[in-house]
Amino acid sequence: MAEKVTLSVIKADVGSVAGHSCPHPSMIAKAKELLDGGVKSKIINDFQISRSGDDMEFIMTHNSGENAKEVHELAWNAFIAAADEAKRLKLYAAGQDLLTDAFSGNVRGQGPGAAEVEFEERKAESVVVFMADKCGPSAYSLPICRTFMDPFTTTGLVIDPRAHQGYDFEVVDVIDHKRVVMSAPAEMYDLLTLLGDTTRYAVKRVIHKELGIAAVISTEKLNITAGKYVGKDDPVMVVRCQSGFPALGEVLQPFAFPALVAGWMRGSHYGAWFPCASEESTPTFYDGPPRVVCIGFQVSNGKIQGIEPPNSAPGKHVPVDMFSGKEWDYVRNKAMEICLYIRGHGPFMPAIVSPDELEYTTRPSVLKKLEPRMEPL
Ligand code: 13P
Ligand code: 13P
Ligand code: MG
Ligand code: MG
Repeated sequence: MAEKVTLSVIKADVGSVAGHSCPHPSMIAKAKELLDGGVKSKIINDFQISRSGDDMEFIMTHNSGENAKEVHELAWNAFIAAADEAKRLKLYAAGQDLLTDAFSGNVRGQGPGAAEVEFEERKAESVVVFMADKCGPSAYSLPICRTFMDPFTTTGLVIDPRAHQGYDFEVVDVIDHKRVVMSAPAEMYDLLTLLGDTTRYAVKRVIHKELGIAAVISTEKLNITAGKYVGKDDPVMVVRCQSGFPALGEVLQPFAFPALVAGWMRGSHYGAWFPCASEESTPTFYDGPPRVVCIGFQVSNGKIQGIEPPNSAPGKHVPVDMFSGKEWDYVRNKAMEICLYIRGHGPFMPAIVSPDELEYTTRPSVLKKLEPRMEPL
């Protein structure tokens, strides 16, 4: 049997320049030094560092499976090195997502988010990685449902015999830390009953009964992990495409709808999801709009195969930046229009999240102060 490859995407925000906007180049350089060392010492086979807004993503291939201690430790140490650089440069929110002082075997529960998938490489393994900023993990639920459940999006569900059987969905309750696996189309309405509540439920994995895992999302709820507000989850999602899985275009199309997602500005607002290139992902309007970046590549013989970027030194390969094209300008313009509209509500719901979801609140102190003046009606 062919050796299995693991794709691990581990992400964190460990500091940025000018508020929550963009990691400093020397933070990325420090992380790269550590990950280069990881390739030399054969902990990982290959890697790419990408970013979405103020979040850094390490996209790594290796042969050690999900939750491999040495891979998580390498990522943790690379984030620590970047955070130390951020502290040295007095950058904003240096070390933001590193919630513990010492590594304890796995990044999960320590602040960073992780989406990992182990597979036997197909003849051609096309993969896309989505990287969001200023939103939570349930932001991916709507596009996932469109791609994997909706035949009006994914014609493959109707005409591709391999996709026709449908997919299983692992749904997590991010508050009570429970999970359930359900099948679509058989249980589609039950699935949507849960997933429609974006405050509580998120998709962790989508699974094809024969081909294995099709998609995986980082569902760590950072504010719950930390017990206080420390930044948003800003989740990542890995999707395997083609040949029984949805075609790349069927995965991308749902992002042409700028859905309202929670987590914008102080983690407390709804905003329209804005698809853009990684380079364009610096939040410049009201700490947003909430972004989603998507990069695509092949996993080939355990390595990441991309394309040669324009005007670069020969031999440098980078993933394809899916939302960089002009066709997405239309969606970006629409997202901005929706964002301006919702901003018109100021601090009123539904522009802000529900009181239970607010990342900061003055409500208890205001209510306490008013207690002596509160009268029965
Ligand atoms: P696959 O058969 O490899 O999924 O390709 C379908 C396709 O042509 C995409 O549009
Ligand atoms: P991040 O979660 O991206 O750090 O942003 C926090 C925030 O509150 C921005 O307004
Ligand atoms: Mg930040
Ligand atoms: Mg962020």
